[in-house]
Amino acid sequence: MEKTIDEKKQGKPLVLEQEKGNTRKLFIESYGCAMNFSDSEIVASILSGEGFNTTQNLEEADLVLVNTCSIREKAELTVRKRLEKYNAVKKHNPKMKVGVLGCMAERLKTKFLEEEKIVDLVVGPDAYKDLPNLLAEVDEGRNAVNVILSKDETYGDVSPVRLNSNGVTAFVSITRGCDNMCTFCVVPFTRGRERSRDPQSIIEEVNDLWEKGFKEITLLGQNVDSYLWYGGGLKKDFTKASEMQQATAVRFSDLLELCAKAQPKMRIRFSTSNPQDMTLDVVETMAKYDNICNYIHLPVQSGSNRILKEMNRQHTVEDYKQLISDIKNIIPDCGISQDMIVGFPTETEEDHRDTMALMEYVKYDFGYMFAYSERPGTMAERKMDDDVPAEIKQRRLAEIVDLQLKHSAYRTKQFVGKTVEVLIEKTSKKSEIEWSGRTHQSTVAVFPKEHYKVGDFVSVKIHDCTGATLIGEAIGYSKNN
Ligand code: SAH
Ligand code: F3S
Repeated sequence: MEKTIDEKKQGKPLVLEQEKGNTRKLFIESYGCAMNFSDSEIVASILSGEGFNTTQNLEEADLVLVNTCSIREKAELTVRKRLEKYNAVKKHNPKMKVGVLGCMAERLKTKFLEEEKIVDLVVGPDAYKDLPNLLAEVDEGRNAVNVILSKDETYGDVSPVRLNSNGVTAFVSITRGCDNMCTFCVVPFTRGRERSRDPQSIIEEVNDLWEKGFKEITLLGQNVDSYLWYGGGLKKDFTKASEMQQATAVRFSDLLELCAKAQPKMRIRFSTSNPQDMTLDVVETMAKYDNICNYIHLPVQSGSNRILKEMNRQHTVEDYKQLISDIKNIIPDCGISQDMIVGFPTETEEDHRDTMALMEYVKYDFGYMFAYSERPGTMAERKMDDDVPAEIKQRRLAEIVDLQLKHSAYRTKQFVGKTVEVLIEKTSKKSEIEWSGRTHQSTVAVFPKEHYKVGDFVSVKIHDCTGATLIGEAIGYSKNN
């Protein structure tokens, strides 16, 4: 999920249409994963009811909120830098209040107030509905903190406002939290236990988005394949549910089908899948519905069984390869992308070569690769030494990034000469006279604008490509338009 958010959007102020009568000004920015961007839309919606309109101008803000990420140390350092900037601005606007949301808020809790004097408000990912009360405290001059994690909060009843939207693509969150406990990962600690959102409220949101003109949604969760609705509550408590609840439970493949049927012209994506939880009924449902995109983000983290075990991943390299081959059997043109970590404690050159060998086997369409960053409180931090030197991590990272570039170029080239369906999202970054959109496999395609417009589904004949972008020409609307 991590990098589905454009680097350029990280930290950009998020704004929405202004609600008449609101007088207070909210400056809100997000870092990290798509879930954080989606959560900021929920926060803006809650605060709109409290008299706040969003602003892009930090200097005029009454309230500054930063939705933070803890996944790697670097993400936290970026947020610390932003707090310095707010501090400088506050000198000219002493009434300005500053709040920290998201994973860093959850991880550091009240420590934030001691470490960063500028911070008035600390709110964890499950406590956004408490914002009106917390703000009332802050207005009275007290610091306010709520970092309580919840068993059932999914914000299913909050209708998110769409911030910085292109009006075409939107995120819809379906699960919160993660129970997987990968030993390197801070998410289970910052986002709590896994719970699923009521399918009814998901479908209502999808229908509403379609009515507002949106053409593509991404169903979001840390681990979407683990979606399980049995009337509310934690995933781990499912075994305690009544027989009736268990028999009528909605699983991820059911939810996908419900969404695909509710809006047969809406493109549907989902992120993120975990190899240990992904089942083939999901892939079969993808194959059954034209409007579910043939693309799976399937992080593996390492190609070494020994490292996977140390990471507490519940799958082996062999399981993963089997899953890939099953996916390709059911959907031959399915795009697949990865997340990889290099330099996990004890990783040897041989383990690293195993990772490269797995990449050679799959030849991923895309990839998001990271050097291991030790996170306080995780099992890896408590039990293992961060013993791979930084230079070696960086060298291994450069090697897998190079290999991925080669594979992306290989995959992109396969499309040359073919006609693909593209949903137009925006003007191309490189040319004012060209549109940019994505194929089912999530590959970017650019082509001359002609009479087409944003939100159109078009058939594009691909005649060329760069490493990661397809270049073509529209030959008409596609059948989904
Ligand atoms: N299941 C989540 C994973 C979130 S973290 C999802 O929705 O995608 C995204 C990626 O960050 C992980 O797949 C992993 O590759 C990377 N990551 C997580 N913890 C890390 C750490 N401590 N150091 C380096 N990379 C990490
Ligand atoms: Fe993190 Fe593993 Fe969950 S990477 S979000 S603990 S699936």
